[in-house]
Amino acid sequence: MTGTSTSARKRRTALLAASALLAGALGAGGMMQGTAVAAPACTVDYKVMNDWGSGFTASVTVTNNATSALSNWKVEWDYTGNQKAGSGWNATVAQSGAHVTVTAPSWNSTLSAGGSANFGFNGTYSGSNPAPTGFKLNGTLCNVDSQDPGDDPGDDPGDDPGDNPGDPGRDRVDNPYAGAKLYVNPDWSRKARESGGAAIANQPTAVWLDRISAIESGSAGSNTMGLRDHLDEALEQGADAIQMVTYNLPGRDCAALASQGELGPTEIDKYKREFIDPIAEIVGDPKYADLRIINIVEIDSLPNLVTNVGSRATATENCNTMLANGNYVKGVGYALATLGQFDNVYNYIDIGHHGWLGWDDNFTPTAQLLHKAATSEGATVDDVAGFAANVANYGALKEPYFTINDSVNGTSVRQSKWVDWNRYVDELSYAQAFRQEAVKAGFRSDVGVIIDTSRNGWGGSKRPTGPAAKTTVDAFVDGSRVDRRVHTGNWCNQAGAGLGERPKAAPEPGIDAYAWIKPPGESDGASEDIPNDEGKKADEMCNPDYKGNARNGNSPSGALGGAPLSGHWFQAQFEELLRNAYPPIS
Ligand code: BGC
Repeated sequence: MTGTSTSARKRRTALLAASALLAGALGAGGMMQGTAVAAPACTVDYKVMNDWGSGFTASVTVTNNATSALSNWKVEWDYTGNQKAGSGWNATVAQSGAHVTVTAPSWNSTLSAGGSANFGFNGTYSGSNPAPTGFKLNGTLCNVDSQDPGDDPGDDPGDDPGDNPGDPGRDRVDNPYAGAKLYVNPDWSRKARESGGAAIANQPTAVWLDRISAIESGSAGSNTMGLRDHLDEALEQGADAIQMVTYNLPGRDCAALASQGELGPTEIDKYKREFIDPIAEIVGDPKYADLRIINIVEIDSLPNLVTNVGSRATATENCNTMLANGNYVKGVGYALATLGQFDNVYNYIDIGHHGWLGWDDNFTPTAQLLHKAATSEGATVDDVAGFAANVANYGALKEPYFTINDSVNGTSVRQSKWVDWNRYVDELSYAQAFRQEAVKAGFRSDVGVIIDTSRNGWGGSKRPTGPAAKTTVDAFVDGSRVDRRVHTGNWCNQAGAGLGERPKAAPEPGIDAYAWIKPPGESDGASEDIPNDEGKKADEMCNPDYKGNARNGNSPSGALGGAPLSGHWFQAQFEELLRNAYPPIS
């Protein structure tokens, strides 16, 4: 396995070199940048050896992957449950709140380069006993090795000094959010603070690269900083991870008008040479090697090739063009391969949301199409850390008052007008199921999903407080659902929506994070035509008077009126998001 991955890594380096030569983009020393990626400095293997429901015994092994010895080693983590670690052996274990600090015993205080130390302790808890995920060794975040009982057969630790024991495919942590301090975008933060959102202005949001010029000088609206500025600022902030969105495919936004972009349907070479290659040149700078770069790849693109093509009532000419010319698949493959060559880049592919792909005829074909893209243009599944659900959408994270398995007088909720035979009623159940489908389609078994919770809160006075009476299936579902949209196909500046769960790492099995990918307050699209040089047009779905089309069940758009161009600041929406936040803003 390792032999393969090493040659794969070399191949990917060669790929960057070739693309750089073509573009003439890299300066002297630039080609070395692809290889100069630091391995994570430590690995922690946390195992619960015995669990009796109210208490447990844990055994923890910490390995120093650095090239020098470490004296007075110290391991730290936070519990997400209410666990209390008691006294331990082979180390001193102390806990304050949820935070555990383990210090080395005097007789074993030095961890040699490549060396390990093991310690154990008994703990108590009630409820659940989830294993912690973010471990630090003397302040540095570590790889987590808890699922892997031993080193992988065939792994030859000698052949690749940067290799991650237990994960021969690459030198990445399983979940880049775990234990990580995330970058706060100062541009968004300032705007949010000035606009009445001081209480949430320090939340991390993603940086959108939505045009070629955004690489140098900022994206739509109030964003002023280029990619290098953001990465430098992330180092300044002492952040462990930054989130960005690469969003500039040829023929972008083929089923809508709001976010059509600067590149025409055939401009795949321009996409590669003037968008992805320059981004690679920047993120490959060794000075950023210790920063985890979480890259959300081309939202809304591949799902459109499944649902909005061919003989379907939802088909559009632009999506048929993009299916036929293959440029979405090529663009995504190229972005994955070119950025995925850096071990600190974590690529997440967009998977739409439950109200788009939750039907059988969309679900499996999407997983398969994503796999096709992830194995094209030199990409492999090792370039994919996972998937991003609900990006810039409004699907409820959890419907607390009904599930897909409920029925009313023998009629399944799947037959309600709202659910309409979908298999999922919320984003969490959808994301977890899609993860499994993706693994079946050939993705790595350790992929995780990010759910964008920036605007799916659905609080405020209209939020139901319990299940409705089971009179008819429609009355039950409509009275119980917290998602108050007119239709799950509505996506533009939704009236009544609120901020959702605050960003959080590893909140549920299979979910790498709840994250704010769409910066709250930035519009989804203009209600009326506004002249611009961004390629964007007014979209009827952003006009409150529009009565709908096949993609939203011919329903009213549910949009707020008076909206500016997509990506531009929409104060009225921001205020609505604050008002309807769920959980409420404390
Ligand atoms: C827009 C982008 C913008 C992004 C984030 C998209 O809908 O097209 O220009 O950067 O939203 O707000």
